Amino acid sequence: MLVALMVISGILQGVFFEQDVNIFGVLNITVGHNASLMLVFNWIHAVASKLLLVLIAIHVLAALKHQFIDKQPLLRRMF
Ligand code: HEM
Repeated sequence: MLVALMVISGILQGVFFEQDVNIFGVLNITVGHNASLMLVFNWIHAVASKLLLVLIAIHVLAALKHQFIDKQPLLRRMF
């Protein structure tokens, strides 16, 4: 869900960016510069990225807790 939001807000901020955003250097997704719309999607993109980082950190800490405090051999199943 959050990853989908990253992709959608990333594309939408590119659509309204002041300079052309070329995906892999070939596909230009910029339609026209609109500062206010760009700022909205830029804000969503930045906030979602921080939330994603927090969730990834919690996920890692929870895996370590299950492995070393609860002594469940869960890391072995991940590799
Ligand atoms: C899972 C997918 C993605 C992740 C995790 C991600 C992550 C990030 C992060 C962490 C930043 C820096 C945000 C900040 O200002 O603090 C960023 C910036 C940016 N992203 Fe993404 N991104 C994703 C997908 C996309 C996609 C699909 C596009 C467009 C095709 C895109 C276009 C951009 C652009 C143009 C910036 C620069 C914005 C600026 O300079 O203010 N991103 N992205």
